[in-house]
Formats: sequence, C-alpha cells, structure tokens
Amino acid sequence: MILVTGGAGYIGSHANKELNSAGYETVVLDNMSYGHEDFLKWGVLEKVDLADLESLRNVFQKYKIDAVMHFAAFTYVGESVEDPQKYYLNNLRNTLNLLQVMNEFKVRKLVFSSTCATYGNPQEIPITETHPQNPISPYGKGKFMVEKVLEDYSAAYGLCYVSLRYFNAAGADPEGDIGERHNPETHLIPLILDAAMGKREDIKIFGTDYPTPDGTCIRDYIHVTDLADAHIKALKYLENGGKSEVFNLGNGNGFSVREVIEEARKVTGKKIKATETVRRPGDPPILVGSSDKARKILKWKPKYDDLSQIISTAWEWHKKDN
Ligand SMILES: NC(=O)c1ccc[n+]([C@@H]2O[C@H](COP(=O)([O-])OP(=O)(O)OC[C@H]3O[C@@H](n4cnc5c(N)ncnc54)[C@H](O)[C@@H]3O)[C@@H](O)[C@H]2O)c1
Repeated sequence: MILVTGGAGYIGSHANKELNSAGYETVVLDNMSYGHEDFLKWGVLEKVDLADLESLRNVFQKYKIDAVMHFAAFTYVGESVEDPQKYYLNNLRNTLNLLQVMNEFKVRKLVFSSTCATYGNPQEIPITETHPQNPISPYGKGKFMVEKVLEDYSAAYGLCYVSLRYFNAAGADPEGDIGERHNPETHLIPLILDAAMGKREDIKIFGTDYPTPDGTCIRDYIHVTDLADAHIKALKYLENGGKSEVFNLGNGNGFSVREVIEEARKVTGKKIKATETVRRPGDPPILVGSSDKARKILKWKPKYDDLSQIISTAWEWHKKDN
C-alpha cells in the first residue's frame, strides 16, 4: 500500500490516479482542509489530520504501508509571510509527525513534495539542484527545513527519500477526471482561464519592466500529469534500492506572462483582457529549472511539454468545473 498524504488536492490526486493506473493500491490521507471529495476516485480515504499523532498511528496500524508520498501542506506563499506559524506548524511540525510515525512502523520510503521556492532569488538560470538554497518566504523556508530534516533522518534512521522540487505545476488530467481547483486561486493559468470565462474582468500583469525579452516574468510550467509520472518513477527508484536524492522537476522552457496569456487566447478563442500594473514584491524575473538530473537518473521525460497542451488540458477541465 502507498500512503498519499494530501491526495485529495491538486497534485496529490493526479499522483494517486497514476499510482492506481500503475497497479499500486493507495490510501489517501487528507484532512480535507483544501481537498475535494470529487477528486477521491481511487484508493481509500482516511480523513485524518497530520497534527493528530494517534489517528496517524491508527492508519499505519490499519494498512501495511510500504511507502509514503507526502503532498499535504499549505501552499500560499503570501499567506506564509503574514502567518508563518500556520505554515511552520503544518508544513514542518506535521511533517515531523509523519516521519516519527513512519519510523515507529519502520516505513523507510518517502517521496516528498518540495519546491523551487527553496532556491529563493536565482543567481543563475537554469537552476540546477546544486544552486544555493536561500528561500525568502516562510513557505520556502519550511520546505527547505524539511529537506534538511530528511538528510539527518536518512543518515540516522535509514530513511530513503526523494525530494522533488517542482517548478510551476499546471494543466489537468488529460482524461478530464480531475484538475486544478485551489480556493483562493493564485496560479496564473487558472486565473487567465477565469478571465476567459468572464468570471473575472481581466488578468493583471504585475510588472512589465523586468529584464526579460517582453518585460514580464518568466516561469517554468510543468504539467501535473508529468509530475505524477515523476512520482511513480521516484518510487520505483527507491524500490530498486536507489539512494536518497533531490531532483528538480520542470519543463526546462520558460514562458513569459505575456506568452501564457497569448497562448490562452489562442487555445480558448476568447478575448482575454490583460491589465498592466506594477511589480509585486518578491517575484524573481526568471525561474527556470534544469531537470537533466531527473531525466538521467529517473529516466523521466515530460510528455506535455508544450504550453498549448498544458493550457488546453487546463481549459477543458476549467470549462467542466465552472
Ligand atoms: N501547485 C504548485 O505549483 C506547487 C509547486 C511546488 C510545490 N508544491 C507542493 O505540492 C504539494 C501539493 O500542492 P497542491 O497544489 O496539490 O496543493 P493542494 O492544496 O491542492 O493540496 C494539498 C492537500 O493537502 C491537504 N492537507 C493540508 N494539510 C493537511 C494536514 N495537516 N493533514 C492532512 N491533509 C492536509 C489539503 O486538504 C489538500 O487536499 C504541496 O506540498 C505543495 O507545497 C506545489
């Protein structure tokens, strides 16, 4: 059995689907704070909060857990600046709870959702795994701290883990079963699609004077199904005795905010009004990752690596979900 924490959320539900397609049995552990009932189409649900050690132990007692994929976390960078305690308690302390119970039950394999936010403002592009990590938000710092905890637990207790540093997750299940639904939504593509549907008046472009070809920020969008596939490959890597590792997961191609809006206009056939406004604090001009290491060691290759495919799957889901 694979335990999928946060499996009722956006990325966790896609990994849960992929695990089941690959023949694994899964238990989804989610407190449903940001999870969705209708994303629970595979495996069994244990509605448990990672803060609750006793209930967590009961789950490990009830099922024979072979490995854990740990997606559960709070994910709003801005909120983490306003309320760091909320983030350190959930993303750091509750991860320690999970690791404690894994240790008690001798569960030694973990795939952890880390983030490119652990790098902070990049010194060079593309960002490789050896780039210095100087996270600037409590969200990024909490994830960075977990990465360090994993190193120590691996050395002391024999934990074998893979930390996956995702760049910007985007797109939706190409079969339309699940997709992106954050509340509130802060991600660029769903916000653009809301504007395409007339649910918001416009899409704001924060800053047009960045040192990039069109002046807007460039990001690396990685399709959620490709992320899910990387998780299966990371799990198999651990099952085959692979040593603890860290991998970036990105597309390797950066797209500017203007390019994403333009592509969304093409895909949806809608007029999408863009309003230019001032920069937001803390947005680096360019965030693009190198995933060469994951390609080489995990033999992972993104399938949905063009922007049009990413936006098309997101649009199909968005129309259905609204
Ligand atoms: N979305 C992105 O672009 C992105 C980028 C980098 C990293 N990540 C990481 O990927 C993971 C998944 O992100 P997402 O976008 O799917 O978020 P999401 O909010 O859709 O999913 C997170 C899930 O975790 C659950 N959860 C939160 N705290 C919990 C707790 N204490 N106990 C049990 N369940 C709990 C929520 O109910 C939710 O279902 C997170 O760890 C996030 O930090 C996401």
